[in-house]
Amino acid sequence: MSIPNRNVILTGSTGIVGSHVLYELLAERLKNICTGKIILLVRNGKDLAAYDRVVKFLTHDYLPSFLSEFTLKQKMEWIEVLDISFESNDLSKTLSQYNTLQDCQLIHVAATTDLRSIEKAYNQNLATNYQGSLNLLEACKSFISRYTYISTVYSCGIKQGILKDNYSDLVDFDFRNPYEEIKQKTERKLSELCSGLNIDLQILRPGVVLGRLIDEPKYYVPKYNVIYAFAGFFYKLLSQGIDVPIEIVVHPNVHMHMISVDYVAKTIAKVYSMSDIGELNIIPAKGLGTKYTAMLMDVIGYKNYKFVSEPHPPRNEVEAMYQMKVAPSFGTYLMEDEYQFDNSKLLNIMGENSIPALEKEYGEMIQFAKDQMFKGLE
Ligand SMILES: NC(=O)c1ccc[n+]([C@@H]2O[C@H](COP(=O)([O-])OP(=O)(O)OC[C@H]3O[C@@H](n4cnc5c(N)ncnc54)[C@H](OP(=O)(O)O)[C@@H]3O)[C@@H](O)[C@H]2O)c1
Repeated sequence: MSIPNRNVILTGSTGIVGSHVLYELLAERLKNICTGKIILLVRNGKDLAAYDRVVKFLTHDYLPSFLSEFTLKQKMEWIEVLDISFESNDLSKTLSQYNTLQDCQLIHVAATTDLRSIEKAYNQNLATNYQGSLNLLEACKSFISRYTYISTVYSCGIKQGILKDNYSDLVDFDFRNPYEEIKQKTERKLSELCSGLNIDLQILRPGVVLGRLIDEPKYYVPKYNVIYAFAGFFYKLLSQGIDVPIEIVVHPNVHMHMISVDYVAKTIAKVYSMSDIGELNIIPAKGLGTKYTAMLMDVIGYKNYKFVSEPHPPRNEVEAMYQMKVAPSFGTYLMEDEYQFDNSKLLNIMGENSIPALEKEYGEMIQFAKDQMFKGLE
């Protein structure tokens, strides 16, 4: 029986989610489930060229165990690295070499995840997440059959009740920040453009992404952002000997919808070749309550805190710093009443009990990040 050929253009492979999508795409090919090039769009780094950055992501100590039997050479045989950003004006020219490539799909993972509500963040989100995603479509439109766009479950803004996958039916948005607003704007624009171009659009939306829970070595992520940045703030204070009282605004019934990076990547790798998936949230139905935010503070060891329900002016320098640096980004996600997701489509695809139980290992997950001193791969 012949195996399918799937050429893929992937962005974001030097990030948390994209690196794990790359690992899954490699496994598909190395284990003869499919064939096809993996074309990575990677920018040169401060110290390393694009190609060497990819090599670093394929050779470090925390590579998932399912890849450990394969050499770097075996992995690189499937990969082509293009040192270009998806935002570049030269993208169409660079990608024109693939104009005759058959069976090609795009998985667009890369994005800025700046959650702040300031003009600079708005402009960055607009340039990278909106215009960049459209630039990519323009450059690939003549040879891709599907555009898999990685968005966020928060692209619907603040909602209540039970959320389904079909955000395209939603109206009236109340966004927490430009990141959410622009992710929503990008989803809608891509939907309009792709339908005119006869390209399948898949919008896949993870919740808050944490370390690995399925593949060994567990708990690993290459970068500590979002909830880890919240934990890292208190870790840094303690490491500087600062332990002053701080009040953190947390809704008493808040529930954070978190999901492990390997589950997210396995879902993307399973779904990208399926023609009947338009929108899919990658998320547990219920989030974890305040008990787990308290557990995070306990693991970090910051004891001098109190959860309060109402915002107030800062009473000391540390509270001012929290209110300036952390509250405007991740902090806003701690301030809302519980809502839930109808994730039945996800469970139909991935299996009824497929989502790893984060609550059992949440403490270990945060402890791992603490042991790494919140220092990522790069
Ligand atoms: N992390 C979460 O909790 C979470 C939750 C929901 C949804 N998501 C979505 O999942 C996707 C991946 O997020 P992540 O957490 O993996 O992000 P990440 O770790 O910050 O990685 C971002 C990736 O995008 C690339 N990138 C960013 N700006 C770029 C630009 N202007 N030009 C070229 N490349 C650029 C980065 O490349 P460099 O290495 O060169 O900077 C990196 O490879 C995003 O679409 C995000 O919105 C993430």
